[in-house]
Amino acid sequence: MLPAFASIYFGFSLQNVRWGEIMHVSGAISLGLGLCVLSSTAFSTAKEPIEPIEPAKITDAAKVELGKQLYFDPRLSKSGFLSCNSCHNLSMGGTDNLPSSIGHQWTIGPINAPTVLNSSFNLAQFWDGRAKDLQEQAGGPIANPKEMAFSHELAVNVLETIPQYRASFKNVFGDQNITIDQVTDAIASFEETLVTPGSRFDQWLKGDETALTQQEKSGYQLFKDVGCTACHSGPAVGGMSYQKFGLIKPYITDNPATGRAAVTGNEYEKFFFKVPTLRNIELTYPYFHDGSVWDLGEAVDIMAELQLGRTLNKTENTQIVAFLKTLTGDQPDFKLPILPPSQPDTPRPDVK
Ligand code: HEC
Ligand code: HEC
Repeated sequence: MLPAFASIYFGFSLQNVRWGEIMHVSGAISLGLGLCVLSSTAFSTAKEPIEPIEPAKITDAAKVELGKQLYFDPRLSKSGFLSCNSCHNLSMGGTDNLPSSIGHQWTIGPINAPTVLNSSFNLAQFWDGRAKDLQEQAGGPIANPKEMAFSHELAVNVLETIPQYRASFKNVFGDQNITIDQVTDAIASFEETLVTPGSRFDQWLKGDETALTQQEKSGYQLFKDVGCTACHSGPAVGGMSYQKFGLIKPYITDNPATGRAAVTGNEYEKFFFKVPTLRNIELTYPYFHDGSVWDLGEAVDIMAELQLGRTLNKTENTQIVAFLKTLTGDQPDFKLPILPPSQPDTPRPDVK
């Protein structure tokens, strides 16, 4: 463990990657974790760089239920056709399994849709972290012309014409008027429940030695030894820092996204993206922000080469992939919400 960790950071500096580059953005977090891994191994305690996911604690069931309805309600889109679930399908790991999403009038979006599962663990939302939390994020797609193509005002108008929604909002927020902040607050509360505890890996973390096969355990050991956990750690196995994609060797893509640099204006943050969660990774293909890689084994090889300067052999690749598949947890399990019907004065969908 100790040599492995040293080798990541040494490896980086030997390959002419500026410490500062890594330190600046991720340093506080990954170095912090690194130290904690180092010290825990030094004292050989059982601390692992990945923590189990606990089931969601629901404090306001009515708000979560309202958020669930809104999440599934296509009337928050201009066409009356697209809901959050269109692109973050909860039957498909919270994604659309497309390279990039299809929005209003079949507009092909610029970037792959990340999963909503476990997104509450992210340090911020979107690949470049431009929304600080789930509530801020939820306002984005409704008004994005390439996604739901509506406006916040029109979305609220639609909801206000539906008596059952009015009653639910009043019940949850105690207010006569519906506001967009209430809409996004309720959606975020629902999203906070979209965690996936119970994976075989978590069963193993919690002490069940039989939950993983030998191959899967070897894969996890390798995942730590080669240095994947420098970036993919914590309960979501990611989501805790921004890192450069193409740290050792550049990533070649047609996708114009520049990542974090677009938000901060800092040139050195070009191609820094939020490290994605690897929870449920088996379900959330295709991979990377350009959605160009469909095969998990290929994604693992690319990561090892580009991020760590390491070529994995076939056995190593198979072991890591086997480990990654143990990160699939219990998927959200609930009754599909039944949406209250529109009224004669509800604004009509507009597909144009
Ligand atoms: C047309 C497809 C589409 C629709 C509809 C859509 N999204 Fe997304 N969503 C995306 C894409 C694409 C991204 C990534 C955009 C980016 O990072 O620049 C994204 C990002 C997100 C993220 C950030 C996840 C992360 O790891 O950073 C969350 C959370 C999310 N969407 C929730 C929602 C909610 C809630 C709704 C409904 C109000 C919604 N989305 C509607 C396509 C969609
Ligand atoms: C220096 C940080 C870093 C290291 C080390 C690293 N990753 Fe990543 N990983 C990232 C970033 C950043 C992305 C997002 C890349 C993109 O698409 O922009 C990513 C994406 C991925 C993805 C695709 C996830 C998705 O949903 O698209 C997989 C799978 C993955 N990494 C596995 C690994 C494995 C396995 C290792 C070790 C061999 C590893 N990573 C090492 C930072 C890292």
